[in-house]
Amino acid sequence: MSPTIKPVTGAQYSRIHGVGGYRPTRVIPNSEVLNWIDSSDEWIRTRSGIAERRWAGPEETVAEMSVQAAGKAIAMAGIRPEQIGGVIVATVSHLKQTPAIATEIAQRLGCGTAPAFDISAACAGFGYGLGLADGMVRGGSAEYVLVIGVERLSDLTDVTDRSTAFIFGDGAGAAVVGPSEAPGIGKVVWGSDGSQAEVISQTQAWDTAFAKPDAVNGAGEETKWPALRMEGQTVFRWAVYDMAKVAEQALEAAGITADQLGAFIPHQANMRIIDAMVKKLDLPPNVPVARDIAETGNTSAASIPLAMERMLERGEAKSGDLALIIGFGAGLVYAAAVVTLP
Ligand SMILES: CC(C)(COP(=O)(O)OP(=O)(O)OC[C@H]1O[C@@H](n2cnc3c(N)ncnc32)[C@H](O)[C@@H]1OP(=O)(O)O)[C@@H](O)C(=O)NCCC(=O)NCCS
Repeated sequence: MSPTIKPVTGAQYSRIHGVGGYRPTRVIPNSEVLNWIDSSDEWIRTRSGIAERRWAGPEETVAEMSVQAAGKAIAMAGIRPEQIGGVIVATVSHLKQTPAIATEIAQRLGCGTAPAFDISAACAGFGYGLGLADGMVRGGSAEYVLVIGVERLSDLTDVTDRSTAFIFGDGAGAAVVGPSEAPGIGKVVWGSDGSQAEVISQTQAWDTAFAKPDAVNGAGEETKWPALRMEGQTVFRWAVYDMAKVAEQALEAAGITADQLGAFIPHQANMRIIDAMVKKLDLPPNVPVARDIAETGNTSAASIPLAMERMLERGEAKSGDLALIIGFGAGLVYAAAVVTLP
C-alpha cells in the first residue's frame, strides 16, 4: 500500500477575536493642505468628506505603528503573542523591498517563529489578509493569525498633485483571527482586474526613478520621488457601480440581508463613495456606517480595521454584531465579507 500523508485538520470555523489601531500623533487639517495646493477647505470636504488626516513622524515607522496596533488587537483577543501562528502584513508603503516587514513585527511582538509575510493588495489588503487568515485557521496551518493593515502613504504623496494631496493618511489597524464555535467570517468575495492596473498606481517604478537623471529626465532635471496617482473619476465610478455588486455578493454568500447588519464598514476611500454605496445597497437607515475618513483620510490597507476599532470604541457598533466590510483599490483589487465583530 502506498504511504498516505497524515491529514491536517483545522478549526471548523473562524472569527475575529480582537481588533486594534494606531493613529499617528500629527494631525494635518485641510488648512495645512492649502499650503501645498490651490484648493479650499470647502472643496475638500464636499468632494471627499475629509476634514483632517494624520501623517506619521519619523519614529512612527511601518513597523512601530503595526506593533502598537497589533498589541491592542492581541490584548483584546486575550491570547499570548506566542499563540499566533501567522503574521500577515498588508501594505503598499513599506519602502524596503526585502525582507518583509512582517518578520520584524512578529519578532517584536513575541510571536516566536510564526511564519510572517507581506502582501500587496492596496486598499483591499485587509480583506485579502482576512481571507488568507480564515483559510489558515480552518485549514489547520495556524491556530491564531494576526492580520495587519498599515500604511505611511504620506511617503508616497506628491503634495503638489491637486487630485491626491488631500486624500491620503497614515496609520495601522490589526485583527487577530482564530478558531470559533460558529461561523464568524463569511465567504470572502475577492478578485482583481489587471486591465485597470494603471487607474491607481505609483507614478514610476523605483528603477526608473533611480536611474541616472540624465538618462531618464534629460540633463539637469531633478529625479522625482515616486508618488501615488489615480484617475479619480474612473475610480469613483468603478467603486460605486462594481463594488456595490461585490458587497451584495458578500451578503448573499453569507446568507445575510442588509437589515440584519449591525454595521457597514467600507474602505474609507471617499465619503461620497461611501454615501453612494449605502444608497445602492439600500442599507436601512438604522445600520451604522463607518465614516472615519473625515478624521483619518484614506489609509488604504489600514482603513477598515481602524474604522472597526473606532466604531466599537464609540459604541456605534457592538461585539457580536454582524458587519459588512469591503475594500477596493489599486490593482484593481477588491475583497468583501460579512464578519462578526469582536
Ligand atoms: C479625487 C476626486 C475627489 C476629484 O473629484 P472630481 O469631482 O472627480 O474632480 P475633477 O478632477 O473632475 O475636477 C473637478 C473640478 O475641480 C477642480 N479640482 C480638482 N482638484 C481640486 C482640488 N484639490 N481643489 C479644488 N479644486 C480641484 C478641477 O480643476 C475641476 O475644475 P473645473 O470643473 O473648473 O475644470 C474624485 O474623483 C474622487 O473622489 N475619486 C475617487 C478617489 C478615491 O476614492 N480614491 C481612492 C481609491 S482607493
